[in-house]
Amino acid sequence: MNILLDTRFAIRLIAGEAVPIWDQVVEHVLAMQSKVWLYAGAVGALQQGVASILEAQGVAHPETAARARIKTFAEDKHWLAALSGEGDVWDTVDPVGEQLLRAVARFDGKCVIITLDESLLSRGGDRVMTPDAYCTLPVRAGVPFINLAVQQDAVRADLERRLHRVLGHGAYINGPEVDLLETMLAQYVGVQHCIGVSSGTDALLVAMMALEIGAGDEVITTPFTFIATGEMIAFLGAKPVFVDIDPKTYNLDPAQIENAITPKTKAIVPVSLYGQCADMDTINAIACKHGLPVIEDAAQSFGALYKDRKSCGLSMVGATSFFPSKPLGAYGDGGAVFTNDDALAKLMREIREHGQDRRYHHPRIGLNGRLDALQAAVLLAKLPIFDQERCDRVRVGNRYKQALRDIEGVTLPYVAPENTSVYAQFTLQVPDRQVFVDALTQAGIPTAVHYPVPLHLQPAFGGLGLKEGTFPVAESAAEHVVSLPMHPYMTDDDQEQIIDAVRAVYS
Ligand SMILES: Cc1ncc(COP(=O)(O)O)c(C=O)c1O
Repeated sequence: MNILLDTRFAIRLIAGEAVPIWDQVVEHVLAMQSKVWLYAGAVGALQQGVASILEAQGVAHPETAARARIKTFAEDKHWLAALSGEGDVWDTVDPVGEQLLRAVARFDGKCVIITLDESLLSRGGDRVMTPDAYCTLPVRAGVPFINLAVQQDAVRADLERRLHRVLGHGAYINGPEVDLLETMLAQYVGVQHCIGVSSGTDALLVAMMALEIGAGDEVITTPFTFIATGEMIAFLGAKPVFVDIDPKTYNLDPAQIENAITPKTKAIVPVSLYGQCADMDTINAIACKHGLPVIEDAAQSFGALYKDRKSCGLSMVGATSFFPSKPLGAYGDGGAVFTNDDALAKLMREIREHGQDRRYHHPRIGLNGRLDALQAAVLLAKLPIFDQERCDRVRVGNRYKQALRDIEGVTLPYVAPENTSVYAQFTLQVPDRQVFVDALTQAGIPTAVHYPVPLHLQPAFGGLGLKEGTFPVAESAAEHVVSLPMHPYMTDDDQEQIIDAVRAVYS
């Protein structure tokens, strides 16, 4: 439970007036892994309030001293933006308290105002508490699977500035944020063109449409992936031709691709699963021999390196996703396609916007597949910290590997020597998955299964007539894989708790 300090309470604290059990509140905030908010709309009141107490205490230069004290106090706190709806508070006798009540309502019950003000306590219901009452709240047990809230803290000021700029200029579709993001992402990946699209699914669709994949065609891909990969092939009327995976990396096994190529084959779509690239050079070489394009489904691998080159720039087209939980995630759906091919880039740009090459002129059929300016603004705010997050994911991954390496029967993620992984997932294989999942759930550790049913056994692909046993490696993986919590902001304590819980299953 986060806390928002009543400005009057904060003034007393900052001015050094004794406030009962404040130290315990701080400890409780830490134990809850929560945060303390100060209301940004109250800086004037804070400055004035602190300065007048300091003046009464006989402190020299009270205004300057107040500024310095507030700055120090705020260093480990978070500033909560004041919104326009929190300005119209003049029908109440307590405008300051009313602002806070409106602000705390934004947290959906995950934040309370801390105050000693009787009138605010009586008006605020369960949104307001004394410091003593806060200290009696139970500490949350367990750890989160991912933690986007901590990441938001790291980018909040830039994020809010960028979002408000979009609200200000109003170019919600094809706004300047989209152009800037495309330029920055193309530079990041090291390719000529990046085209922002509305999701990772649409990234695949736009790429496949540009390559004119359709009815009667076959597209080679992996059965061990999220549905979108095979789904978009089928959506265009083509036939997904599945090829089994490498048992160590879970990516398409290049040694089996050539057998699956027929005169109808139109493309190869490897997936860079769990954050590490497929063996792209080998796949490209096979494709080149047969005159086929390769689309890398890099939804889970943005930022990963393969032979020192970046995922998304390793084949004719790279398609990624900015789904919120992805290594680079927006606050909604988003995606991008990448290519060095000028003609293909032009085509993909047109396809993502109703196939138009200029306003209301449509040489081809396309779709509404654009990335919007608000999502681009979110991604622009996150991009500067992405490389640090990438390193932190590796740090967390390596720590898991080190701590779990000697458990018999448990298979840890294998990262091929030519690869770095962004650990979109940290995925183990365990002998009896249900026992494992139940034990971790009991210990307050969430898990996820990516993916429990390989695509060839999904009812939606029943028409292909593929039976159990067709792709033994993918089927075995689907039966045994389980992902542990993974995000770049994992604390040592949380990770210790997860490691202990895993080890306890096999002790
Ligand atoms: C391998 C893979 N491909 C495609 C997608 C689709 O991306 P989106 O959810 O952005 O449409 C995902 C998303 O989970 C994915 O993991």
